[in-house]
Amino acid sequence: MRVFGGIPLLGEVVISGSKNLSLPALAASLLTDSPVTFRNVPRLTDIDSMLELLGYLGMNISTREDSSISVCTPDIKATEAPYDFVRKMRASILVLGPLVARCRKASVSLPGGCAIGARGVNLHLNALEQMGAEISIDNGYIKASAPNGLVGCDIHFPISTVTGTENILMAASLAGGTTRIINAAMEPEVIALADLLILMGAKIDGHGSSIITIDGSDSLHGADFRIMPDRIEAGTYAIAAAVTNGSLILKNCVYDHLSQFFDVLHLAGVDSKIISKTSENLDNIEVHRSGGDNRIIPVDVQTAPYPGFATDLQAQFMTLMTICNGTSSITENIFENRFMHIPELSRLGANISIHGKTAIVTGVKKLIGTQVMATDLRASVSLVLAGLMAEGETVVNRLYHIDRGYENIDQKLLACNARIERFSV
Ligand code: EPU
Repeated sequence: MRVFGGIPLLGEVVISGSKNLSLPALAASLLTDSPVTFRNVPRLTDIDSMLELLGYLGMNISTREDSSISVCTPDIKATEAPYDFVRKMRASILVLGPLVARCRKASVSLPGGCAIGARGVNLHLNALEQMGAEISIDNGYIKASAPNGLVGCDIHFPISTVTGTENILMAASLAGGTTRIINAAMEPEVIALADLLILMGAKIDGHGSSIITIDGSDSLHGADFRIMPDRIEAGTYAIAAAVTNGSLILKNCVYDHLSQFFDVLHLAGVDSKIISKTSENLDNIEVHRSGGDNRIIPVDVQTAPYPGFATDLQAQFMTLMTICNGTSSITENIFENRFMHIPELSRLGANISIHGKTAIVTGVKKLIGTQVMATDLRASVSLVLAGLMAEGETVVNRLYHIDRGYENIDQKLLACNARIERFSV
């Protein structure tokens, strides 16, 4: 993407449905042989990858024009998630819980490392083992079998894991007896997945707290479910308004999912307020810098599980801090390798040094456009944000990462005055 920087973004951005809810929600529909309809599913390559895998497993899928997807899996035709699917997207691990719960066996390629760190799945596997599954690793595949079905128990996650909690929520919904997930992830996506499962007939209590209790059911039924807005996409566009010293209205958001993040932006000198509600009770939020031309104020942040500062907004926030009036420290506590945007931001003139898991960002007056390389989804968008505020022209290479998680980003930015252009080399 070629980005011509220095133009304040002005206008409205309609926030799409959440990627990180759509992925487990689609996987959860494997738990029933009845139809499930999802509304507000974003068009993203990660969703396409998940649908390809689910189709391979036997799901019938119809995609409609209005971002609704109806699915039905009368029979599971394959219980194996092959390497070719899983290597494209780590979230493929989300089929493990549903497959073992429904078919009593599954074989899922080990995801392996990824750009942002080693990201094991040991916690998913230990939990399923505690529920009575036999697990082995064979030729790079996780083989899980529970010939007598999974049995509920107390699962204590030593660290908070989002997809780990989601896998066990789904598996426990069809297990025998009661499962308690202790130190469960509390992300809004986990809560919404539990809401979907409840709509499908599951008996779940405590989601949103650190202890979730699930009473297993014999079967689940179909549902019609609306995917909530993507809080990370909303947070990203909020930063786009701030870095360009523009003013954006983020339409169809849930303010509460971002209230801590907006508090941090406020400390940095960026204001956000709900200006209206939609007919579906979603929030339209206006975001702009509080002091007009004032420099961004440095803020120190540490990433943490929800409701802490989201690791998925760390790269974008760092882009904002590159132009702060002072020094900010940004600590990445979730993933060990999520600083790959730093050398690229430095190429644009940012002053950042890395000390273990902390980046010290000393603000500069401006960034200056040049060529940069995207390495993962959030890094790629942080470089587009940097390009939007840099002087002159920035070219972000390997931009395809961005299509995994940002629906229609070109059109959304163009509609707000950005000067960008996608091209192939
Ligand atoms: N971990 C383990 N073993 C496990 C599971 C996790 O060591 O079995 C570690 C991870 O390596 C990491 C930490 O636990 O250090 C937390 O990882 P978590 O399991 O919570 O991450 P995830 O479920 O793989 C989801 C999102 C990520 C987001 C993280 C953290 C989805 C599909 N993915 O990943 O989203 O960064 O939670 O909030 O929901 C993104 O959208 O760009 C993205 C990477």
